[in-house]
Amino acid sequence: TAGALADRFGRVATDLRVSLTDRCNLRCSYCMPEEGLAWLPRQQQLTDDEVHRLVRIAVERLGVTEVRFTGGEPLIRPGLVGIVAAAARLSPRPRLSVTTNGIGLDRLAPALRDAGLERVNVSLDTLSPERFQRLTHRDRHADVLAGLRGAAAAGLTPVKINTVLMRGVNDDEAPALLRFALEHGYELRFIEQMPLDAQHGWDRHTMVTAAEILDALAPFGLKPDSVSRGTAPAETWFVPGWSAADGGPARVGVIGSVTRPFCGDCDRTRLTADGQVRNCLFAREESDLRALLRGGADDTTIARAWQTAMYGKRAGHGIDDPTFLQPARPMSAIGG
Ligand code: GTP
Ligand code: 5AD
Ligand code: SF4
Repeated sequence: TAGALADRFGRVATDLRVSLTDRCNLRCSYCMPEEGLAWLPRQQQLTDDEVHRLVRIAVERLGVTEVRFTGGEPLIRPGLVGIVAAAARLSPRPRLSVTTNGIGLDRLAPALRDAGLERVNVSLDTLSPERFQRLTHRDRHADVLAGLRGAAAAGLTPVKINTVLMRGVNDDEAPALLRFALEHGYELRFIEQMPLDAQHGWDRHTMVTAAEILDALAPFGLKPDSVSRGTAPAETWFVPGWSAADGGPARVGVIGSVTRPFCGDCDRTRLTADGQVRNCLFAREESDLRALLRGGADDTTIARAWQTAMYGKRAGHGIDDPTFLQPARPMSAIGG
């Protein structure tokens, strides 16, 4: 085997996030303009077989143990179930998850579970259908709720919900969203908005911070989690008096990427839908594995190129640096 995906700060990437498409059927205002973006041309996108080859190299030769499929919206990729099934047949078998907006999950959850998917994270920013429409420019709130129920029914658990709070938009809903999640046995995580939107509308001063989120949740009397967070972006708390779907203690999470960065423990490597390795969500350089693939490179060559890409990973995202520049590729084409 070629070895591990290590960087010069001693971090080792074992968690691969694969973006399967840059397209999406929603237009969340913190992510994409209403008119959409210039999508990747089909021939630039990796085929299902090319995706699988890179996942296989990561798992068999580079020590990757977890694979998360993202987008855009991964559920709109026609080959998703087959891609999951192929990944589940690898040895050692990686842990498999999906991050989705939930639309269509109702219908797809059983097939995804049967293919070997373990769990899903679903984005939901509001309990109000009207607000949902204003926020996403689509009238699909009921589909997302159905998707959440379908995921739980199929056993894709724990079902986690991702909520991005925006000041004056949905920041009044934090307690209600948590109550909703607790009542249904979903694990909610509140996310600080990051500067990754195509419109460059992010503003540090209007961002709802982790500290503010925790203030809003004070009535729940949160208690520190007993389990260490490890390399996960989310810090979690117990919610006293509530249990999770599996009967254990209920949790809530906060992902404070901006005010409580977790880069020092990062274990992630990313692949875009057009076959570029990104060593960080905020990386400004990418490594073109698609060119190697299509140029006939062997697995060893591809594995080495991936290692080289990861070795150059910077210490942190640099959002606080005066010289910070948003990456050219927007969130929707990276997959979070
Ligand atoms: P779990 O394995 O369930 O903990 O997944 P996750 O929280 O790592 O993944 P998910 O796709 O649900 O992402 C939740 C939020 O965390 C999104 O806003 C992601 O953009 C963000 N996130 C995930 N990985 C990273 C990371 O490496 N750096 C930063 N800054 N944010 C990340
Ligand atoms: N900042 C933080 N989180 C974001 N997401 C999308 N855009 C941003 C952003 N600018 C979230 C989505 C989804 C996850 C993949 O990332 O809501 O849950
Ligand atoms: Fe890792 Fe980059 Fe995310 Fe920091 S911002 S946790 S280094 S991917």
